Amino acid sequence: TEKWVLMVTAQTPTNIAVIKYWGKRDEVRILPVNDSISVTLDPDHLCTVTTVAVSPAFDRDRMWLNGKEISLSGSRYQNCLREIRSRAGDVEDKEKGIKIGKEDWKKLHLHIASHNNFPTAAGLASSAAGFACLVFSLAKLMNVDEDPSHLSAIARQGSGSACRSLFGGFVKWTMGSKEDGSDSVAVQLADEKHWDDLVIIIAVVSSRQKETSSTSGMRESVETSLLLQHRAKEVVPKRILQMEEAIKNRDFASFTQLTCTDSNQFHAVCLDTSPPIFYMNDTSHRIISLVEKWNRSEGTPQVAYTFDAGPNAVLIARNRKVAVQLLQGLLYYFPPKSDTDMKSYVVGDNSILK
Ligand code: PMV
Repeated sequence: TEKWVLMVTAQTPTNIAVIKYWGKRDEVRILPVNDSISVTLDPDHLCTVTTVAVSPAFDRDRMWLNGKEISLSGSRYQNCLREIRSRAGDVEDKEKGIKIGKEDWKKLHLHIASHNNFPTAAGLASSAAGFACLVFSLAKLMNVDEDPSHLSAIARQGSGSACRSLFGGFVKWTMGSKEDGSDSVAVQLADEKHWDDLVIIIAVVSSRQKETSSTSGMRESVETSLLLQHRAKEVVPKRILQMEEAIKNRDFASFTQLTCTDSNQFHAVCLDTSPPIFYMNDTSHRIISLVEKWNRSEGTPQVAYTFDAGPNAVLIARNRKVAVQLLQGLLYYFPPKSDTDMKSYVVGDNSILK
């Protein structure tokens, strides 16, 4: 029997939405009820590293997440694997004497090992980096000849927010209008160099797993929240245009106003859901008050905040100087009681901590 293994490793950062995705119009294909916009973090922080391997010695597809084997039988994994396999190309490694034809990929099995360098499922968008990395590394291994937007439509079927992690910088996920989801893809609005003054600080308020998954939370909101209907139809379309303008012009005041209002409306939708969903806690609320007061006292906004499906604060400082002041403020008002109590991850430039 042939004894060879072919491997590819990729690293993908997570992304943080500044205009949130919340609610699906199609749960199977993962099609959203509104457009969303995010910023992708630096590749070295909060990322997933995934190695994919193929060998004739493997007898079935298997996956390990943070060292523990997990099941691939769920439809999200199956959809991604199927879509990627159907686009596989010919692969040749002359040195190793390996030749894999398009059709062979249907018979060959994969081993996948994935690691997150941050808490899984604590509202730090671990699935976003995870599925983006899975699809990207498989596409490289199988020589899939598709641009990142096409790959984003595949990653979307693993986790909606994952489609936005295939690009760096500022990214828009357009909801699309086609039933098959082929136009529900991510596009880059601006690359990572466009607005590199910004410093993102993530205050980990709690690294516990969230109680309501985004999947069931979204389903309940779509079924019961009138505010969600209003938000998707009347609010987000205008906000998306304003946010695109703010990003284009590096207009921090508008950017902050839109980011904070949108985060607050997303959490209002959660409260408007029956039964209500609480993702933020007292500490989250105190961080919001602190930032709001600071922005007001300065006359012009210094820091934007946004919260996903969990209590952790994502804080976006207008520049390094403000980031240092923000960190000092956080450590003063929220002195860490223990290592796990509250850790601040500085994303973008570690030297700030020194
Ligand atoms: O892609 P999911 O199912 O993990 O949902 C993500 C939802 C939010 O993080 C709350 C918002 C967003 O746009 O990322």
